[in-house]
Amino acid sequence: MADSEPASARSDLERDFGTHGEIVMPGDAQPPILTPPVRAALHQWLFEMNAETELRAVGLKPRSRCLLSGPPGCGKTTLAHHITARLGVPMLVIQSHEIVGMYLGQSGSRIGKMFRQARRDRYGVALFFDEFDALAKKREGLGSQGADNERANITIALLQELDRFDGLLFAATNVTKEIDAAIWRRFQMQIEIGLPGPAERYAIVKMYLAPFEVADDAVGAIAAALDGAAPSLIKEGCEAIKRSMVLGPKMGLPTDLPSIMDRFANSASASEGMPEPALWSARRSVLADLAQVEWLA
Ligand SMILES: Nc1ncnc2c1ncn2[C@@H]1O[C@H](COP(=O)(O)OP(=O)(O)OP(=O)(O)O)[C@@H](O)[C@H]1O
Ligand SMILES: [Mg+2]
Repeated sequence: MADSEPASARSDLERDFGTHGEIVMPGDAQPPILTPPVRAALHQWLFEMNAETELRAVGLKPRSRCLLSGPPGCGKTTLAHHITARLGVPMLVIQSHEIVGMYLGQSGSRIGKMFRQARRDRYGVALFFDEFDALAKKREGLGSQGADNERANITIALLQELDRFDGLLFAATNVTKEIDAAIWRRFQMQIEIGLPGPAERYAIVKMYLAPFEVADDAVGAIAAALDGAAPSLIKEGCEAIKRSMVLGPKMGLPTDLPSIMDRFANSASASEGMPEPALWSARRSVLADLAQVEWLA
């Protein structure tokens, strides 16, 4: 559907699913830069989904439910969007905590309604549950009243719906150990997306610095400065660099690399609970390294 998407598809989907979450379309997806193991898992899965006939001949179906885990900003949503785009289907992004929070006492029926709509949907919409732990927490230790009862109902509704749903389904979480074991088992795939390694970090910096053409040494030094950062923070850093290059001279700000990165470090930081990347934990030596590289012409 990506190229020949009818103009009405998005508005049809928003009409049908707007109360449940946000619709993202195939044409808006960006490919994430992934570590080799995640890339291999993705490649295998896409291959499998394109080989449905062969699999059915031996009584198998392509896997369709994937649990994505990993720290914030490493690409869980981006990856799910990319996969659904590769398959040409739109994706409904559901904020799990909104289902629990907004409709206390009715979450189970709300979940049922959403899945029914998805099963009827003619565009084959994929479902993406963000912050899935908010919805699928372990049931151990739950009582039988109020909020506990509500939690148990949610889990039961989810289990039933996961068994019935044939379409593509993703869930994302930062805390896999909190997911209910029975729900966990319904996911045929669990992919962990961790922080990027040096090669991925370099590629991410290069991608987000475009259209600026930056010397390889400078890309390497910027990537080293952001050692330990999630891709989302690396992207912010690259955007800060580009912003400074465009606006710095007009604002009378220095546009040498150490000054830009120092200003960036003063105005951004890693997510709560994440380790500090090099630019923050060893700022002085990182800025000294950045001062050594040949930057833009
Ligand atoms: N692996 C990646 N390669 C390139 N860009 C990435 C990657 N991961 C994240 N980004 C960029 O960082 C931003 C945040 O990514 P995304 O929302 O996918 O992270 P997430 O893992 O879903 O985070 P959260 O746990 O907060 O929901 C996006 O703009 C995306 O383009
Ligand atoms: Mg996300």
